[in-house]
Amino acid sequence: MSNNLAIKLRSGTQQAHTDAENVGFMKCFVQGVIDRECLSKFLSNLYFVYSELETAIEKHKQHPVIGGMYFPELNRQASLEKDMLFYYGNLWPHLLKPSAATEKYITRIYEISAHEPALLLGHAYTRYMGDLSGGQMLQKVAQSALKLSEYEGTEFYNFEQIPDKQAFKNKYRQALEQLPVDDTTADQIVAEANHAFYLNMEILKELETILIQSLGRATYNDLV
Ligand code: HEM
Repeated sequence: MSNNLAIKLRSGTQQAHTDAENVGFMKCFVQGVIDRECLSKFLSNLYFVYSELETAIEKHKQHPVIGGMYFPELNRQASLEKDMLFYYGNLWPHLLKPSAATEKYITRIYEISAHEPALLLGHAYTRYMGDLSGGQMLQKVAQSALKLSEYEGTEFYNFEQIPDKQAFKNKYRQALEQLPVDDTTADQIVAEANHAFYLNMEILKELETILIQSLGRATYNDLV
C-alpha cells in the first residue's frame, strides 16, 4: 500500500520551491549571470552540506526509512572534491570553511542524524531531486557562462552512474511510496524538507550579497 509520500513531498514543498526559484541569486544564475567567485563559493558550501549529509546517510543505512532510500549513486561528495580542486587547487582542504548559513545547515543535519534520523530523508529529497531536475539546467548555464569544458568545475551536476535522470526520479518516487512511514512521520519528513529549502535559501541569500558586490547594485536590480 502506498503512503503517498512522493506526492506529499512534491505538493507540500511547492511554495518553498517557488520561493527558492525567486531568490535573486537563483534568478541571476538561470539567466547566466554568475561569475567564477560565486559559483565556486556556492559549490564549496555544498561540499560541506553533502559531506555532512552523506556521512549521516551512510551511518543510518540500516534504518528502515533511510535504508529504503539508500542510493549511493547519488553521492556528491567526491564530485564536489573534484570541483574544489579545480577552483582552489591542491590546498583546497586548508582554504575552505563553511559560511555562516552553511554552518546552520550542517548543524541541523548533525542534530537530526543524532536524534531523528528518519528526517534526513527531507534533506536528501530536497537536494538530490533538485540536482537531478533544475540542477541539470543550471549546469548548462554555468558551463556556458564561465566557458567551461564539459563538466570541468561543474562535476557536482555530473551523475555518472545515473544516465537516465527521469527513470531514476521515477524509481526514487516509487521507493518513497513504499517506505514504512505512518502519516505523522510523513508529515514530519515534509516539514523537514521545507526546512531544508529554507536552509538552502539562506545560503543563496548570502551569495546574493557577493553577486551584488561584483555586479553593482543597479545592474543587479535590473535582473531580479
Ligand atoms: C532557479 C532555480 C530552479 C529551477 C529552474 C528548478 C527547476 C525544477 C524543475 C523544472 C523541476 C521539475 C522536474 C520534474 O518534475 O522532473 C524541479 C524539481 C525539483 N526541484 Fe527545482 N528548480 C530550482 C531550484 C531548486 C532549489 C534551490 C531546490 C532545493 C534546494 C530545488 C529542489 C527541487 C526538488 C526537490 C524537485 C523535485 C520535485 C518533485 O518532483 O518531487 N529546486 N525543479
